[in-house]
Amino acid sequence: MSTPETLILRRPDDWHVHLRDGAMLRSVVNWTARQFRRAIAMPNLVPPVTTTDEGRAYRERILAAVDPDLGFEPLIVCYLTDHTDPDDLQRGAAEGVFTAVKLYPAHATTNSSHGVTDVRKLAPVFERMQKIGLPLLLHGEVTDKAVDIFDREAVFIERVFQPLRAAFPGLKTVFEHITTAEAADFVADGDENLAATITPHHLHINRNAIFDGGIRPHAYCLPIAKRERHRLALVKAATSGSAKFFLGTDTAPHAVEAKEAACGCAGIFCAPYALESYAALFEAEGALDRLEGFASVHGPRFYGLPLNEERVKLERVAEPVPEKLELEAATLVPFHAGETLGWRFGGVLPA
Ligand code: NCD
Ligand code: ZN
Repeated sequence: MSTPETLILRRPDDWHVHLRDGAMLRSVVNWTARQFRRAIAMPNLVPPVTTTDEGRAYRERILAAVDPDLGFEPLIVCYLTDHTDPDDLQRGAAEGVFTAVKLYPAHATTNSSHGVTDVRKLAPVFERMQKIGLPLLLHGEVTDKAVDIFDREAVFIERVFQPLRAAFPGLKTVFEHITTAEAADFVADGDENLAATITPHHLHINRNAIFDGGIRPHAYCLPIAKRERHRLALVKAATSGSAKFFLGTDTAPHAVEAKEAACGCAGIFCAPYALESYAALFEAEGALDRLEGFASVHGPRFYGLPLNEERVKLERVAEPVPEKLELEAATLVPFHAGETLGWRFGGVLPA
């Protein structure tokens, strides 16, 4: 039972994480796995996960790195390229390796140089995915250098997403890490084959955070945070109770020296206090009763997966977030570093 001092939720899933590989994977995976039962592991490794065999191997590496007591299940995604083979995708889906497919426009973000140069060439791949019900996850930003970085998501809707939806209306699509009012409206107005993930940082910060008294590399991610009116639209969407919006942290760890650099990497490491961060936001909106839907119900329903049976506990305790986490692979700065959150993760309760 939830009381004002504790919040008991169905155990959530994270529908968008970067778990990385090697020592970084070992350093970060348990932060996700201690809270979430399942997570969509994004495939933008170097080199990326582009075939069923690579997907199976990546899943094995994640399972070898994670604490087995946490009961974590990684969900593997195929990275779409100009050369993706529809037969291999279908095999990967049938064999339970691939849960979804990710579209990165070439050069849109970290490790996306192998991404898609022209989505129109991929019609046979989308047709097959539509037929077998395999969801397409989209990094929704155009890469046209003439388009302002703050407009790239809105322009992507017009140039890419709307034509794609019109051509493949039965294709399940997730607009990943939405950052604009335009994206929130587009998803809310769409049918049941369109949904979106929302990160904790895009709910908490607007673009001022990147320039607060100086350049703040730990507030820099892609898609970049937008104006306050966009943040408010995301808060409204996430807390609306609509099943089209669900939790996806986009936790994206980069070593502190790769962030605090002349050309700092994009990505915010929000896994360590992810649930606490969402809970603080939902509470401030008077919407704590809608957190479970967003975190634990809407995602599995969209993906056609069972709801988790375990529960997690959040306690209303002041939780100071450390400035830095010294991990095996690197020193990482978590989202909310130096702040105090109003909730503390109290662990997983047995089913
Ligand atoms: C992600 C990363 O570092 O892999 N970075 C980010 O800013 N979100 C890539 C991505 O999801 O765009
Ligand atoms: Zn991401």
